[in-house]
Amino acid sequence: MIFVTGGAGFIGANFVLDWLAQCDEPVLTYDKLTYAGNLNNLVSLRSDPRHFFVQGDINDQDQFAQLLEQHQPRAVLHFAAESHVDRSILGPATFVTTNINGTFHLLEATKTYWHKLPSTEKSAFRFLHVSTDEVYGTLSAEDPPFSETTPYAPNSPYSASKAASDHLVRSYHHTYGLPTLTTNCSNNYGAYHFPEKLIPLIITNARAGKELPVYGDGQQVRDWLYVNDHCAAIRRVLADGRSGETYNIGGWNEQTNLSVVHTLCNLLDELQPKKNGSYRDQIRHITDRPGHDRRYAIDARKIERELGWKPAETFETGLKKTVEWYLANDVWVNQVQSGDYLKWVDLQYSNKTEAI
Ligand code: NAD
Ligand code: TYD
Repeated sequence: MIFVTGGAGFIGANFVLDWLAQCDEPVLTYDKLTYAGNLNNLVSLRSDPRHFFVQGDINDQDQFAQLLEQHQPRAVLHFAAESHVDRSILGPATFVTTNINGTFHLLEATKTYWHKLPSTEKSAFRFLHVSTDEVYGTLSAEDPPFSETTPYAPNSPYSASKAASDHLVRSYHHTYGLPTLTTNCSNNYGAYHFPEKLIPLIITNARAGKELPVYGDGQQVRDWLYVNDHCAAIRRVLADGRSGETYNIGGWNEQTNLSVVHTLCNLLDELQPKKNGSYRDQIRHITDRPGHDRRYAIDARKIERELGWKPAETFETGLKKTVEWYLANDVWVNQVQSGDYLKWVDLQYSNKTEAI
């Protein structure tokens, strides 16, 4: 069996669904079910005997330790985190509590469990930490993409908390020998993406006839990867990654935010045309995010060279699948856009002014 923390969130849920579609090894999903965690993401597994769900906080070291003893997993895959940069700017405390303290407690419980394993299981065990390219900071247009040896230079409370958690994972390998793997991935998109993040926010706002908020000039660059490609990369790293190593994962797909928004508008104009005009008419440039990183880009040659992974989906095919998923899943969208979500949208967007 494997344990997946944060398996009710966007990437974690896609990972659990993919895993059980590919093999029969059971999964225990451990998730606090914060605003970002949603059991509806895993509803298709409700009566699947290969899937177990436990609601819990990664800071609850005792509960996690008991579960490890009880189920004896061969790996812990750690996705659980506070993940939204804008929320980290307005309220950094939970990012420290979950991403730093939570990862620490998870490592402590896992280290104790791992120490007691018989030698064969001990050497086969893995703690796989899912992290982000944002730990490397920001690039100028001329810089080469982030590689595994790029120095850490996190700029937001979110990326600083993820960087701290990466360092803790590194130290548990170096000091205690815990067999760890760390992946640093670029921006994901796909099904079950919570509509606070750019791509699902644009799709859902466009369909609701609302403004499409673009921060500043919209020329910031992100490297977008389809979520199922990320899941496939994690499976490859878990299977054959070298203990103690880090692997960068990316889509070789740099896009400006404005270009992403334009492509989404084009797709919606084609798949669900408005009565009058284009969805582009709803675009509004608003006050920029404080400390906004200008460009992220990933050099994903190490994972391709060592593990043979590269993305299967192009941005065009992946984005089309994503828009089609949102068009077909109104019930999911309506359910997540409930009271707490509306409060967030009000807090984040109501006092922003026109930028350009
Ligand atoms: P998400 O916000 O959609 O989901 C996070 C999940 O973690 C939720 O189910 C939430 O309930 C759970 N969680 C939060 N705090 C918890 C706690 N204290 N204890 C237990 N569970 C808790 O995030 P995501 O986009 O799916 O990201 C998953 C991981 O991948 C994160 O570690 C993130 O840093 C990393 N990552 C994300 C992206 C991206 O583009 N979304 C890119 C690279 C890396
Ligand atoms: P986001 O999806 O929040 O991911 P991250 O900040 O982790 O890269 O944002 C992606 C990019 O889109 C980022 O440069 C900020 C920008 N953005 C907007 O322009 N408008 C928005 O309403 C949001 C949420 C993001």
